[in-house]
Amino acid sequence: MGRVRSYLIAGNWKMHTLRAEAVDLARRVAEHARSVPAVRVMVAPPFPWLLPVAEALAGSPVALGAQDVHWERKGAYTGAVSPEMLKDAGCEYVIVGHSERRQYFGETDETVFRKLQAAISVGLRPVLCVGETLDQRQAGWTLKVIRRQLWGALEGLTPPAAFTIAYEPVWAIGTGVPAHPEQAQEVHAFIRAEVARIWNASVGLHVLYGGSVTPDNVEGFLRAPDVDGALVGGASLKAEAFCTILDIAQNLSAGRSG
Ligand code: 13P
Repeated sequence: MGRVRSYLIAGNWKMHTLRAEAVDLARRVAEHARSVPAVRVMVAPPFPWLLPVAEALAGSPVALGAQDVHWERKGAYTGAVSPEMLKDAGCEYVIVGHSERRQYFGETDETVFRKLQAAISVGLRPVLCVGETLDQRQAGWTLKVIRRQLWGALEGLTPPAAFTIAYEPVWAIGTGVPAHPEQAQEVHAFIRAEVARIWNASVGLHVLYGGSVTPDNVEGFLRAPDVDGALVGGASLKAEAFCTILDIAQNLSAGRSG
C-alpha cells in the first residue's frame, strides 16, 4: 500500500455556522494555510455554505469538502445532493459514512459503498469514516468492526490512485475523551493492512485520526507512524485552534519527508 507522507488536516464543521461565520472562518484558514505549505488542508462546511466558502478559499491552497453525498447522479431524491453538484460547487473531497450519518440517518455499509462509487466516478476524493462504539471496544470487537466496515465499503470498488480513511472511534467523537495515540496507531496499522488485502493494489492512502482532536493532543497522534493527519470536528470551528493544529502538523512534517 502506497505511503503518503504529507499530513492532511481536515475540518468537519458538521451542522454549525451561519453564513457570515462560515465565510469568516474559511478566510482565516485560507490566510493561514499559506504559512503551512507542507500540510494539505481541507474544510467541509454545511451544504448551503459550499459556494460562499469556495469563494472565500479561492486562490488559497485549502481544499473544499462536503459532509455527505447521494449515490445517484440525479433524480427524484428530495433533499439529496449529487456528486456532480458537489464537483460543480467546487468540492474536491467528500466525507462518506461518518458515524453520525450511520447513527442518525440510517447509513449502512451498502449505502456507503454506493456513495464511494458515485463520488469516485466524478473525481471527488472520498474520506471514508470508520470506527467502533464504546460497547464494541469494551467487548473486544474493535478490529472486527473495522474490518467489516472496510470490506463492506471497499470490496468491489475499483481501487483509486489515492484514497482517505478516517478512523473515528465513536466514543471519542465530541466527548473530549480522545483515543490514546497507541490505540489509534494499532487501528491505523490494521486499516492499512486490511486495505492492502481488499484492493491488492498500490493506493496512496491517507489514514486520519478523528475524535476530540485539539491543539493540545494532536501532536501525539501525528507522531504515530501510521497516522497521516486528523479529521477535526469541534476544534475546526475555532480559527485559532484549527490554525494551531496546522502549525503543529507543519512543524512535524520535516520528520516525515522521504
Ligand atoms: P470532534 O473533533 O468534535 O470530536 O469530532 C470529530 C469528528 O467527528 C470529525 O468528523
